[in-house]
Amino acid sequence: MLTLNLFWRKLFSTSESLATSETEEFPGEIFSTGRESITQSQIMFSTERDIDIYELEELCDRVGWARRPLRKVRKAIQNSFLVVSMWEIKGKRRRLIGFARATSDCAFNATIWDVVVDPGFQNQGLGKAMMKYTIKKLRTADISNITLFADPQVVNFYRRLGFLVDPEGIKGMFWYPN
Ligand SMILES: CC(C)(COP(=O)(O)OP(=O)(O)OC[C@H]1O[C@@H](n2cnc3c(N)ncnc32)[C@H](O)[C@@H]1OP(=O)(O)O)[C@@H](O)C(=O)NCCC(=O)NCCS
Repeated sequence: MLTLNLFWRKLFSTSESLATSETEEFPGEIFSTGRESITQSQIMFSTERDIDIYELEELCDRVGWARRPLRKVRKAIQNSFLVVSMWEIKGKRRRLIGFARATSDCAFNATIWDVVVDPGFQNQGLGKAMMKYTIKKLRTADISNITLFADPQVVNFYRRLGFLVDPEGIKGMFWYPN
C-alpha cells in the first residue's frame, strides 16, 4: 500500500514538487553558511517531527541506504526523543537535506541514529553543524551520555565532534535474531 502511495505521488508530482514543499509557518533555526548571497538559499535546522516520510526516504536513497518499511520508519520517528531535520530554504520552498534523530531515557542517556546529509550538500560543514545542533538540544535536556553507532567509514567524522571509540575499553555489543 505504501509503495502504491509513493507510485501515485510520483506520478502526479513533478520531481521538484516531490522533493520540496512550502515553507510557510515552518519553525526552525536559520544556520548561516556565509554563502547565502551566492547561493540565494538559506539552511535551517528544525526539531519539527512532522517529516514527510517519502522525502526522508528519498534522502536516504540518495546516500544508498537500504530501504526500510515506511510504517516502521514513521513509528521510529514518532517514538524518538529528538528529531532533527536540516532544510535548504529557497524563497518559499524548502527541501530536506539532512536528518538525525535520538532515542533517550529522558534522564541520563541518548543514542543518535540515522545521521544523513544529502550528497549535494556534503563536505561543507553541514553534517558537523547538524550534529552540533543535535548535541546542543540533548544537552539542553540535561542529557550527558550521548552515544551512537558509527559506520566504519565515518568514525573520524564523529571523532572530530568529540565522540570517543570504546572509552575506558567499553565495547558496544549487539544481539541479532538468528
Ligand atoms: C557522514 C556525513 C553525515 C558527514 O556529513 P558532511 O556534511 O559531509 O560532513 P561535514 O562537511 O560537516 O564534515 C565535518 C568534518 O568531518 C570530516 N568528514 C566528513 N565526512 C567524513 C568521513 N566520512 N570520514 C572522516 N571525516 C569526515 C570533514 O572533513 C570535516 O572535517 P573538518 O572539521 O576538519 O573540516 C555525510 O557524509 C553522510 O550523510 N554520509 C552518508 C550517510 C552516513 O554514512 N551516515 C553516518 C551513518 S553512521
